[in-house]
Amino acid sequence: MKKVIIDCDPGHDDAIAIMLAAQHLDILGITTVGGNGYLENVTRNALQILEVIDRTDIKVYPGHAGPSTAKLVIADNVHGESGMEGPVLPQPKIKAQEKHGVDFIVETVMSTDDVTLIATGPLTNIASALNKEPRIAQRVTEISFMGGGAYCGNWTPAAEFNIFVDPEAAYKVVNSGAKIKMCGVNLTRQAIMSVEDKEEMRAYNTKAGIFTAELLDFFGGGKEARMHDASAVAWVIDEDVFKGAMLHVDIELCGRLTRGMTVTDLRFMQTEKVDVDFDFESTRRWDDEPEGSTFRGKEPNVNVGMRCDIERFRKLLKGAIAKYK
Ligand code: RIB
Ligand code: CA
Repeated sequence: MKKVIIDCDPGHDDAIAIMLAAQHLDILGITTVGGNGYLENVTRNALQILEVIDRTDIKVYPGHAGPSTAKLVIADNVHGESGMEGPVLPQPKIKAQEKHGVDFIVETVMSTDDVTLIATGPLTNIASALNKEPRIAQRVTEISFMGGGAYCGNWTPAAEFNIFVDPEAAYKVVNSGAKIKMCGVNLTRQAIMSVEDKEEMRAYNTKAGIFTAELLDFFGGGKEARMHDASAVAWVIDEDVFKGAMLHVDIELCGRLTRGMTVTDLRFMQTEKVDVDFDFESTRRWDDEPEGSTFRGKEPNVNVGMRCDIERFRKLLKGAIAKYK
């Protein structure tokens, strides 16, 4: 099993991501970050999720309450005041750890080989860990994050929520030199759980199945739901569940309309043409352009998820929830 640390802001879809990960990955620890809700709430939610799936062996380390460069924006309009509105859960019996999430990330990565970081909230903790110990960029196997979009946002026309909350952190991560997978909203809007999928999981009649359905009842508003965060986990479990393209990505920090945009250079593709939603100059390589050409893009730094094998994804996710007794 791959060893992972999950940095998250539960969050309905974060909860489903954790449940997927717990069936397939060796979760060394969970760190929490202000995002969907305030740190206190998302940390409590993480503890409750672990109690639902009887995995209180997994420890939770609270990280940063919010970005250092801007006021925290929360998504209570999407996730409710508690950050995980809908399911009725008892106050958790287990407690969060005293150690700061960033210290846990740095200490674990520096002492353990082959750790993958999975981030499903704002990248504040990941960037802080990179600032504290830059060598983790080379030590981690990869960073798989849910955030951004190859050509679209959700919180604004240009920016996806996780990146919008802390663009400076995202800038640090995509320019860290680490091996990076980006599950942006261009991809995650393809990774759907339908109402039928939801009812199928409710019918498992297990704590996890009912919990997942109740999360989706709220998160999907009675309709299908986009599994944003589970995508970042699924791509670590199964390399072939998504098709990606090595592209150059950087983060807009200053734009009046575009702050938080993951500016993705779609002019070139390092891999074969990836069947995506719209055509763009695809099979040319960035280094086909002569040195000094104004059309020569920067070297690719991110594996950008472009196409979801939806049947493979649904089978993986529903199969994981079905495993809980
Ligand atoms: O834009 C989707 C992201 O924002 C997901 O991580 C969701 O949990 C919210 O944090
Ligand atoms: Ca999230």
